[in-house]
Amino acid sequence: MKNIVILISGGGSNMAAIVKTARRDGWQEKWGARVAAVISNKASAQGLVFAREHGIATEVLDHKAFVTREAFDTALSEAIDVYDTPGQPALVVLAGFMRILTPGFVSRYAGRLLNIHPSLLPAFPGLHTHQRALDAGCQVAGATVHQVTVELDHGPILAQAVVPVLAQDTADSLAARVLTQEHLIYPLAIAKLLQK
Ligand code: GAR
Repeated sequence: MKNIVILISGGGSNMAAIVKTARRDGWQEKWGARVAAVISNKASAQGLVFAREHGIATEVLDHKAFVTREAFDTALSEAIDVYDTPGQPALVVLAGFMRILTPGFVSRYAGRLLNIHPSLLPAFPGLHTHQRALDAGCQVAGATVHQVTVELDHGPILAQAVVPVLAQDTADSLAARVLTQEHLIYPLAIAKLLQK
């Protein structure tokens, strides 16, 4: 069994898209893969409700309860590693997980740690990507699925989606257009990895 552990901080719509696609497309039957757990650093994350309703194990690890970033990441690793199966380490999927991870954490999961970022990387790493794209006068925007490396919002690109920027766009309207594409490319990129 290849377990997928998804980390969230908020709405969890990308997580929900991955869960729905995995079930619709029979990832378990085809590749022995399933979303085994959803972990949030916020107890109020809406995505936890969806996960519980879909029978997925959930865990909350409040980063504020830890004195250092390292201590939080160590606890996070312990929560994730429960889902390793013999010979098959879990795939760790960041889906709107708004925490900067320590180099130790990133190297522990090297090659099996993915992120989605709401811009066409390498443009606009960091926060407020949609407003920055509007301010720069970009005519297209989008999202990127990438392997996570120690440098924030960098790492080998696995998938991208491009959307037009419209004259009347606000950061919110652009974010919504990008998000619908995120829901398509993230499950696709994961499925591609699982097939390898
Ligand atoms: C998504 O747009 C994702 O790309 C972004 O947060 C949103 C989470 O939405 N991630 C980042 O900004 C990471 N730097 P969701 O919780 O509904 O999936």
